[in-house]
Amino acid sequence: MSLHDFDTVIDRRQVPTSKWDRYPADVLPMWVADMDFAVAEPIVDALRARLDHAVFGYGGPVPRALRELIAADMQDLHGWTISPADVVFLSGVVPGFNQALKTVTRPGDRLVVETPVYPPILAAAGHWDLTRVDVPVRPVADGSGVDLGRLTVALEGAAAFLLCNPHNPTGRMRTRTELEAIAGACLASDTVIVSDEIHCDIVYGGRQHVPIAALSPEIARRTITLMAASKTYNIAGLKTAYAIIPDAELRQRFVAAHLGLSEGANVLGLVATEAALRYGRPWKAALLAYLEANRDHLMARLAAEIPEIRISAPEATYLAWLDCSALDLGDAQKFFLDKARVGFNPGADFGGTPDHVRLNFGCPRALLDDGIDRMVKALSQR
Ligand SMILES: Cc1ncc(COP(=O)(O)O)c(C=O)c1O
Repeated sequence: MSLHDFDTVIDRRQVPTSKWDRYPADVLPMWVADMDFAVAEPIVDALRARLDHAVFGYGGPVPRALRELIAADMQDLHGWTISPADVVFLSGVVPGFNQALKTVTRPGDRLVVETPVYPPILAAAGHWDLTRVDVPVRPVADGSGVDLGRLTVALEGAAAFLLCNPHNPTGRMRTRTELEAIAGACLASDTVIVSDEIHCDIVYGGRQHVPIAALSPEIARRTITLMAASKTYNIAGLKTAYAIIPDAELRQRFVAAHLGLSEGANVLGLVATEAALRYGRPWKAALLAYLEANRDHLMARLAAEIPEIRISAPEATYLAWLDCSALDLGDAQKFFLDKARVGFNPGADFGGTPDHVRLNFGCPRALLDDGIDRMVKALSQR
């Protein structure tokens, strides 16, 4: 296999996986957010070298070099100046935003989220006895992208805003202007921002991701940003992520809030993350080109063959949010699972309606085509 081969279909059923074990063997899984691609060679090489050492006791302090690589990436990719000391390593972004909520809220506080949204973000309020306030993520009619009136009301007295940018499941990316509006509203209501930016590297059309904390030092002081190499480099199973918290006091409170539940990162995950950031750029560039072509292919085929499905082209992520309401399928996930044997995520899991599904196009083109063929055939036989 060449370094940048995304076309080969790898039989992932040879090992246990969330994605491929969930449904019977005749179902094509296009749900959970990982990709069906082998990771970049330098990551495998680094892991092999670490495996050869053959001792896997508790890891020591995270190498300074890795912190520096993350700081350099923030500068280089997002124009955000951070210090290597601002980074706190975690076993995942989901544990990270839960730890952040534990840090900055008390039971009974209000938490604002933009719906539909990634299910663990929806669930987080319940873990900490918070009152969730949902704001629709849809662009508003005036084209501003943020319903500032509604957001301002939602934020009144809210302890935290759990932002997801780029947004899962819609693939929308917040523009700088939108982020400024959101950040301004959070400042005005004295709300802490917890920003899940795990998909920040998977962006299309030369777009530039803006970390909300990069807007100003004032915003950075009230923000806990969560990122990982896991989505971009397909290493989510290695359970490694990081928080970036420039404010020293907030960072110390965050670290103290782990409660013995989430004790830092995995030794192999740190090795893979370092190799990804150090050597992964050429692979990432090839991946983004492939994913963008997959996205365009999906959009073109759906427009031509199932025009009833409404979808706005994802600007980021390898996830597409399909509005199937015009097809009148009722529960669209169930229809496609039963009749097409394709496994999507149900829209209702995101706080959306059952006539929506989330499709993952992070797969070889042949699998994407297989999925679309199955959908077209099932609809033609209705
Ligand atoms: C928005 C978002 N946050 C977090 C995660 C998962 O993060 P982790 O596996 O690091 O907990 C995902 C995975 O799909 C995601 O889409």
